Amino acid sequence: MNKRADTSVSLHPLIADRWSPRAFDNNALIPGEDLAAIFEAARWAPSAFNAQPWKFIVGLRGDENFNSITSVLVPFNQEWASRASALILTNVIGFREDGTVNQTAMYDTGLAVSLMTVEANHRGYDVHQMSGFDHAAAKSKFPLGAGIDPVTCIAIGKRTSPDSLSEEIKAREVAPRSRKPLDEIVNITW
Ligand SMILES: Cc1cc2nc3c(=O)[nH]c(=O)nc-3n(C[C@H](O)[C@H](O)[C@H](O)COP(=O)(O)O)c2cc1C
Repeated sequence: MNKRADTSVSLHPLIADRWSPRAFDNNALIPGEDLAAIFEAARWAPSAFNAQPWKFIVGLRGDENFNSITSVLVPFNQEWASRASALILTNVIGFREDGTVNQTAMYDTGLAVSLMTVEANHRGYDVHQMSGFDHAAAKSKFPLGAGIDPVTCIAIGKRTSPDSLSEEIKAREVAPRSRKPLDEIVNITW
């Protein structure tokens, strides 16, 4: 299914063709090399003062981490994300080494996930991020220490037919994508 972004000028296909599917093939696996590349992409993201304020927990379908991450998702997300090849819990490190608050930690972490998404898409995987999960439960299942908090869960896998989804989720899968107009998000026009 093609859900290419409708843009005023042409974009790189990795950006134009990215979208967030929910129909994942529950037989697809991610080889270690692809997984390593996905996290290398995050690792080499820019961050303020090069603080790299992120920490990822990854589970592969069927393993203990995967089952733990699945268990903290809201039921809607559980229904489709449990078929992904990998689930990632993204955590943000909210403080700098000197103990002061890192004001851009969330921004930096989103940037790292953005690059991770591009690398995953480039390697033929699809990525779907989720804020719909129990943050307290995630923190207690994966205690990473003071000041390190869960932000998102991320499903990565191979897209399959929307027919594999329940009717409610399938309707979202096939719905057109939409965005605010360009002149609403930036102050100049071309
Ligand atoms: C931080 C974040 C949290 C999200 N949380 C959820 C979620 O809990 N469940 C879900 O189905 N989609 C979730 N999404 C996916 C968004 O709904 C999706 O990115 C948005 O509708 C734009 O669609 P597109 O990514 O296909 O362009 C989330 C996306 C982001 C970036």
